[in-house]
Amino acid sequence: MARGMLPALTMVAALAAMALTTSTPTTSTPTVSMPAADKIYVSSENFASDESMRDLYERWYALYRRDSEPSDKEKRFAIFKEEARAVYELNDGDTDVKRHLNLFADMTLAEYAKSFANCSPLKIRPRDNIKLKLHQPSQYYPDNLPLNFDWRTVDGVLTSVKTQGECRSCWAFAAAGAMESIHFITNNKRTNLSVQELVDCTYKDNGCDGGSAYEAFQYVINKHGIHSSEQYPYVGNGSHCTTPLGLPVMSIRRYYYVTHGSEKMLMDAVHKAPVVITFMGVNTTEFKHYSGGIFRGPCNHRESHQALLVGYGTMPRDDANHRGIKYWVVKNSWGESWGERGYMRIERGHQADGGLCGIMLWPGLYPAHPE
Ligand SMILES: *[C@@H]1O[C@H](CO)[C@@H](O)[C@H](O)[C@H]1NC(C)=O
Ligand SMILES: *[C@@H]1O[C@H](CO)[C@@H](O)[C@H](O)[C@H]1NC(C)=O
Ligand SMILES: *[C@@H]1O[C@H](CO)[C@@H](O)[C@H](O)[C@H]1NC(C)=O
Repeated sequence: MARGMLPALTMVAALAAMALTTSTPTTSTPTVSMPAADKIYVSSENFASDESMRDLYERWYALYRRDSEPSDKEKRFAIFKEEARAVYELNDGDTDVKRHLNLFADMTLAEYAKSFANCSPLKIRPRDNIKLKLHQPSQYYPDNLPLNFDWRTVDGVLTSVKTQGECRSCWAFAAAGAMESIHFITNNKRTNLSVQELVDCTYKDNGCDGGSAYEAFQYVINKHGIHSSEQYPYVGNGSHCTTPLGLPVMSIRRYYYVTHGSEKMLMDAVHKAPVVITFMGVNTTEFKHYSGGIFRGPCNHRESHQALLVGYGTMPRDDANHRGIKYWVVKNSWGESWGERGYMRIERGHQADGGLCGIMLWPGLYPAHPE
């Protein structure tokens, strides 16, 4: 079947039908998991001497900081040693979740928290707005939803994982990611949208100070479109809002919110499109260094962060480490070295507590393409 040649809506309908007729776990979900060969792991030998630790640092440095020599390299090395120790201790005895030395390995927890774990501090409850509609559950809700669903298995729906840098722009990446996906789902077009346009133009003040995808969608509706990242490239700091040459590449006319607090409703919604969710309290060492497996906490329920929910699943009962564990799949904006090539699997089933890391405390949001 030449899938790319079918009208996109037919393809998605066919896919949803396929997914919904099977009630056994598919093999599709857990495949995008183990980090690539360029990952840097910590082992006990690295702690043998200062030289061996410095070797590890230089290997990490060549991969992550090559292009931006820090003026305080010795101070960074000191932090790196502490972080390597923390990563080693977290891994020790834990077979579920793996950590390696990712992009945050020379940053303290407080530095990471400031720029990465705290980028959506605004009130994000949807306002009364006619462009914002309540997600209407599908015919499969609540009892006939498939066990597994993952947009990563549909070529083209998800663009590459991006890196926000030290601009608190997670909300803009999450919103752009959601619009990129709906653009492909309805129009079969692959595009990277301009996160910088959202950062510069959504708020009067600097969008690098944090924001919400909700405001980003509203901006695109009001402006009748958003440009591509080629037209308006990402620089990772807040600059003046400018009008780039050329027409916007896509627009949305409305967007939907998913009642908060309901896991099943969120599962139902993600079948329609990837959904922007809000994490609470990802300001923890475990979240910072997460590199694969199913994340099971802790979070501290304070700062907030937005990312894109792209699926969910249930591990097979015979998986030794994860017997039947249920999880969500999330696309983050911290580059491919974090998590499972930029994605995360996080435990699902904490319904009563608003979800692990609070992901059901706030309504999920997804945009609709103009019909
Ligand atoms: C995150 O946690 C660290 C360690 O507890 C703390 O120093 C830092 O202030 C917190 N960050 C924010 C943004 O609250
Ligand atoms: C989107 O950007 C990535 C780099 O992050 C690039 O590899 C990819 O080709 C771009 N996709 C399109 C459709 O331009
Ligand atoms: C933002 O980043 C661009 C590109 O790196 C740089 O030219 C510009 O000076 C920066 N602006 C500010 C305000 O830091």
